[in-house]
Order: sequence, then structure tokens, then C-alpha cells
Amino acid sequence: MSGIDWIRRWEDRNIGFHEGVPNVHLVAHFDRLGVQPGGRVLVPFCGKSVDMHWLLGGGYHVIGAEISEMAISELFDELGVAPHKSNVGPVQLWAADGIEIFVGDLFELTAELVGPVDAVYDRAAFVAQPEDERGGYAEHVIALAGGAPQLLITYSYDQSLMSGPPFSIPDEEVHSRYGGRYAITKIDEAATGGVRGVPADEGVWLLTPR
Ligand SMILES: C[S@@+](CC[C@H](N)C(=O)[O-])C[C@H]1O[C@@H](n2cnc3c(N)ncnc32)[C@H](O)[C@@H]1O
Repeated sequence: MSGIDWIRRWEDRNIGFHEGVPNVHLVAHFDRLGVQPGGRVLVPFCGKSVDMHWLLGGGYHVIGAEISEMAISELFDELGVAPHKSNVGPVQLWAADGIEIFVGDLFELTAELVGPVDAVYDRAAFVAQPEDERGGYAEHVIALAGGAPQLLITYSYDQSLMSGPPFSIPDEEVHSRYGGRYAITKIDEAATGGVRGVPADEGVWLLTPR
């Protein structure tokens, strides 16, 4: 899906990926990233995820990237804060106390724009992209984060039963895309209620710099 397609999905309210409560794997495992209070957490493809409310509540600094302005407008409404908006390079930056969201294409961002990153939280981002785009995405996020540790959530299901997103990610692919830079541990595996009617498991991965 192109950026335009995602923007349209938000306009059409086709946002079944949005969870109304903090992600259970984030809550259970975020501490394994070893981020100190005040630490800067990059949330690529952030949507208006309430995971960002949870991170803010924990005293972490959220750095999001999201192409849909509608999503980010709703995020700040739901947070109950008015962002300061500015143009930075090719994207906009919407910022408030403890939170900075780059509104635009993640692939236009540079490490310099994003600033220091202590950890990456990747839910429904890596898995949102088709196979031929995942390599470029993984490399770009690693570069933006300066190789900071990541908590990555994947899906695993029979890809012949449904076209993504979200896409099914074989375990070997996590190793092939991230293993050059990270030591990789699958820290959890859980059945989901299914993805659009297809039985699916989630994998939770801790990626720590080598
Ligand atoms: C499957 S949703 C996941 C949202 C969020 N992570 C969550 O868990 O609810 C993927 C999000 O990525 C955004 N997106 C897609 N391509 C993007 C791009 N190139 N740059 C920034 N955001 C993008 C979409 O608008 C969408 O909100």
C-alpha cells in the first residue's frame, strides 16, 4: 500500500489495526529494552496508538512517525493536548510535552531530524509492508535509531488464506532482516483471536545491539 492508500484508509475509517487499549506485549515486555525514564522511544508508523499514551504515562519521550495527518490530529485530541506544529525538512513536526510526531513519510526522515533514540517499539509497522519493502524499511529504521534496541511484534499465519497487511513473517525473516545488527530473541508467542478471520499467532521479539 502506498502512503496515499494509508491516508485514504484513515479517511475511510478502515483502521481495524487500532487497539483501544495498550498492547499487552508492550506492557509485559517493554522493560526488557532497559530504557530509563525520560528515554526516547521511536514508534514508526505510529497511527494514533494508545501505546503512545502508555509510554508517555511511563515517563518516556515518544517520537512517532505517521503519514496520516488525520491520525495525528486524533492522537493529540485524545491526549487532550494542543501540539506545536512546524515544518522540518520535508515533513511536519507536531510536538507537545514529552512527544514529537513527524507527520509525513517515514522514509523522508533522517537520523539527524529524529535525534537520539534509546529504543524502537514496532507494532503493526514492519508487518504492515509487503515482503519486497520490508528490507528497506528495516534498514531505514535501524539507521534512524542508530541501532538502538527494538521490541518488534510480528504475525504468523497461512499467507495463502489472506493477503496482507498485516503480513505473515516467518521467524527466519526476522533473523535475516535484523540479525546483521542485532542479537535476536523471541521472547513471547501468543495466539491471537485471528486476523480478519484467519487463525494467527503473534511473535514478540527483542532485538539488542550486538
Ligand atoms: C497498520 S497501521 C499501525 C498503526 C500503529 N502502529 C498501531 O499499532 O495502531 C500502519 C500505520 O502506518 C502508517 N504509514 C504507512 N506508511 C507510512 C509511511 N511511509 N510513513 C509514515 N507512516 C506510514 C499508516 O498511515 C498507518 O497508520
